[in-house]
Amino acid sequence: MAFDTLFSPIAVGGRTLRNRIVHAATVTGLGRDRAVTDRLIAYHAARAEGGAAMIVTELMNVHPSSSGAPILVSLHDEGNLGGLARWAEAVERHGCRLVGQLGHIGRQQLWGLDSVPRSASAQPEALYWNSARPLAEDEIPGIVAGYAESAERLKRAGFSGVELHGAHGYLIAQFLSPACNDRTDGYGGSLEGRLRFLREAMAAVRAACGDDFIVGIKLPADERVPGGIDPDEAERIAAAAAAEGVLDYLSFSQGAFGLDFDTHLPDMHYPPRPFLPLHRRLRAAAGGLPVIGLGRIESADAAEAALAEGACDMIGFSRLLISDADWPRKTRARRTDAIRACTFCNYCWGEIHAGKPIRCFQNPMLGNAGESGWQPPPARERKCVVVVGAGLAGLEATWVAAARGHAVTLFSASAQAGGAARLEARLPGRAEVSQTARFQQRQATEAGAAFRFGEAASVETVLACDPDAVILATGSEMRRPPALAEDAEAVDLRSAVAALVEGEPGRSPGTAVLLDMDQTPAVYGAVELLAERFARVVLLTPAAENARFVNLMSRMGVERRLAQLGIDVRRLTEPVAREGERVACRHVITGAETAIKDVALLTYATPRIARGGLAAELKKAGIPVTFVGDCLLPRDAASAIHDGHRAALVL
Ligand SMILES: Cc1cc2nc3c(=O)[nH]c(=O)nc-3n(C[C@H](O)[C@H](O)[C@H](O)COP(=O)(O)O)c2cc1C
Repeated sequence: MAFDTLFSPIAVGGRTLRNRIVHAATVTGLGRDRAVTDRLIAYHAARAEGGAAMIVTELMNVHPSSSGAPILVSLHDEGNLGGLARWAEAVERHGCRLVGQLGHIGRQQLWGLDSVPRSASAQPEALYWNSARPLAEDEIPGIVAGYAESAERLKRAGFSGVELHGAHGYLIAQFLSPACNDRTDGYGGSLEGRLRFLREAMAAVRAACGDDFIVGIKLPADERVPGGIDPDEAERIAAAAAAEGVLDYLSFSQGAFGLDFDTHLPDMHYPPRPFLPLHRRLRAAAGGLPVIGLGRIESADAAEAALAEGACDMIGFSRLLISDADWPRKTRARRTDAIRACTFCNYCWGEIHAGKPIRCFQNPMLGNAGESGWQPPPARERKCVVVVGAGLAGLEATWVAAARGHAVTLFSASAQAGGAARLEARLPGRAEVSQTARFQQRQATEAGAAFRFGEAASVETVLACDPDAVILATGSEMRRPPALAEDAEAVDLRSAVAALVEGEPGRSPGTAVLLDMDQTPAVYGAVELLAERFARVVLLTPAAENARFVNLMSRMGVERRLAQLGIDVRRLTEPVAREGERVACRHVITGAETAIKDVALLTYATPRIARGGLAAELKKAGIPVTFVGDCLLPRDAASAIHDGHRAALVL
């Protein structure tokens, strides 16, 4: 498909954007002490260089009463002017417009309560039940002035514009939403009253910045909290905001702090573009202003189609551009196969929510200087390298080493690349996991690596390659739980899943019991498979909660699916014995015993044991050996890939 519309220019607020690709606002966790850092600038400069036409920064605080985490830059602080100016220069010099997101978090304390939150009223939010002190009427003008002064500071710093964050349940949405705003003064009650704060903020920003400056807004499309802003109310709000005559573009997003929080960032379990039909409907209310459509728009074809069908005028991408800063440039050059495709796993969001700098599990260069256009640096001396294991760690080491000019041979016992991720990709809702290995294998092939698939490496076959170095990426296996030591029929979850996906489809009338001591996303994909194949599924975990290693955003979806599938979830419980089709369980705190009947499958996902075969003999033969991924220490896919990447760079 030609991407003519995607790469056509568009006028927004008196500026011409070079194409329709916008990096949607994205907290990077790269700010420090509420100030701009070099890495924050490098992250955005790479995406400007990579070809985005406009970048909306992460939420930045417009007023001291919005404190949040210290990773968020304070726009109310004149001391940040220098950093903001360096940031603007670094982005704008690539022909990309930098737009600062103006935010006030109000009662939503995503990083925990560190101050006294202020909001439209004292209603607790629906996620952590945080309450807030209602803003007194005479405090509101100071906050409105914060929006205007922050915008004016950004203009002085060289930014092209601002976006008011009116979505995701932050302060503007707290005023707009009937679920939060129960004020009885002129800022509450009817829609007119609830719109007043937004109107004042928009007008103040425009008055402070003049016409030659982009002023956009991100508005709720559907809050999905009881009594909140539904699509009908969102339509009325969008029409009213557009009618003010001060905005240059609108953008829509869904979800607030609540149990549908995950609709902010629909993950790989959602169908692609789940909210585009809603954004299309809201575009009709936007009075002809350009609209940014966003939310799991997964490919250039999908983006082009969305524009052609009139669902939106520009495409907002967050996760796609986290995964590959050069997505626009590669797409334009028709090199879409060279894109490191986002898997929509939300790992990036999990990292920033944990208060850490943003990471993408499959993009080790993220946020480093030189990220755009990065190629592995050529090796000083061409070495013969053997990699053992074609999981994500081994594949990463293979492509990076080969691209550096080394002669690389990859041994894989399996006939195909991908290791555990290949099996995971066959689970319900997990198909996109396969994208990572596809990219790595393509890169390795292009760089000339030799693949020996279906060949379990032995000391002899490895030594026959006469290697200068060996990278071992032989993975891990699940530890058999002590209580099931004598139970030959109890199998680890990977073996159970492999048997199910390879075997005959059909449903057992019995019960599948899964002991979950892993709590990663793959386990819950496996639970869905078990629910398809067994009449009942019991999920046992000795932990107090589920999905501890699934980011909070995607955990909402896990909980929803467990409930919808009728999974019998027993927390703080472990199996202690099996007799025929009966499994005895124990509450790990009280010791109380329960039983599960009609058990047809007992399987476990447990802390893993590294597989390190070959190393000792290779070392004895004088070959330097590096362990990467699970065979070094079983951890997550990010650690595996980043290990493989580092190992190849030091060869
Ligand atoms: C790590 C991360 C941080 C985000 N931070 C913000 C933010 O500061 N402000 C905002 O309006 N949206 C934020 N978003 C939401 C995105 O702007 C966007 O609406 C959402 O990710 C859906 O787009 P996508 O499917 O292209 O990722 C964030 C998304 C991610 C992944």
